[in-house]
Amino acid sequence: MPDLERVADDGGAVSGMKARFFTRFTREQRYLHAVLFTAFLGLAATGLPMRFAQTPWARRFASGVGGFGAIIFFHKMFAVVLTIAFLIHLKEIFTRGVLHREKGIFWGSTSMVANWKDVKDLVGHLRWMVGLGPKPQFERYAYWEKFDYWAVFWGMLVIGFSGYAMWFAPFFARFLPGWALNAVLVVHSEEGLLAILFIFSIHFVNTHLRPDSFPMDMVVFTGVESEEEFKHKRTQEYERLAKEGKLEQRVATAPPLWLVNFSKVVGFTAIAIGLILLVLTLSAYFS
Ligand code: HEM
Repeated sequence: MPDLERVADDGGAVSGMKARFFTRFTREQRYLHAVLFTAFLGLAATGLPMRFAQTPWARRFASGVGGFGAIIFFHKMFAVVLTIAFLIHLKEIFTRGVLHREKGIFWGSTSMVANWKDVKDLVGHLRWMVGLGPKPQFERYAYWEKFDYWAVFWGMLVIGFSGYAMWFAPFFARFLPGWALNAVLVVHSEEGLLAILFIFSIHFVNTHLRPDSFPMDMVVFTGVESEEEFKHKRTQEYERLAKEGKLEQRVATAPPLWLVNFSKVVGFTAIAIGLILLVLTLSAYFS
């Protein structure tokens, strides 16, 4: 992030040299991520007061927004938004991977599917952290980014299915036994809590708070990263693209200052809301 600031502030010139930028995420991917985290924050902010309805903050929040009925209404609205975002993502995977047979969607160095290198990177990273070896070099997605992705993907299926089973209980009761309809509340509630704890602690730390990105990695907002960041964070991807002669295809313009500032405001607001919800969850859970 400091590098982004320097470049945006002086119009692209760093120490007299033109800093190069590279695209990491497309506009559609950035928009989808924005919808995803907005809906998730909304679901967490409305789900938690339902789960911890006995706490003073949940009651105050409920009376502020028009009661628990209103909270449930907003929860369902955010759920519909999240479901649409998830379906758009599934359609993109299907179109690129199955219809267009794009290489690297389901397997290989650009895929989200874990492979043997991820296992080696995990072990190598742990060894590096305790000073027993060199730092591994990462490809397009590091092992922890794949882990975060699949945690959300899997969570979406479990939370989504259990949520809709509660929402449309009379319909699901036609083919689910009674005990299963009771179980979906427990599954939804526990998985929702797990998702909140995971996103607001592990995902935040992995993505934004680790030394390489602190205090915030803005690439998912701006879509681009500087050459210096690219080389440093995803050395193997950078070298592979250079070897294949594809690096130039990814060259982009520096993000405009307004986008950098806007990303900071949105990003820090999301992180602040997430951390407040995390503290409320932990305090309610352990009290
Ligand atoms: C497609 C997604 C989702 C749907 C359809 C959905 C739907 C629902 C419904 C119908 C309820 C019960 C409301 C009532 O009491 O009438 C509920 C409760 C809840 N939801 Fe969701 N939800 C979804 C996603 C999420 C997510 C992503 C989270 C976490 C971030 C979450 C957290 C919760 C929590 C904590 C409760 C309260 C459970 C309890 O009372 O113990 N939900 N949800």
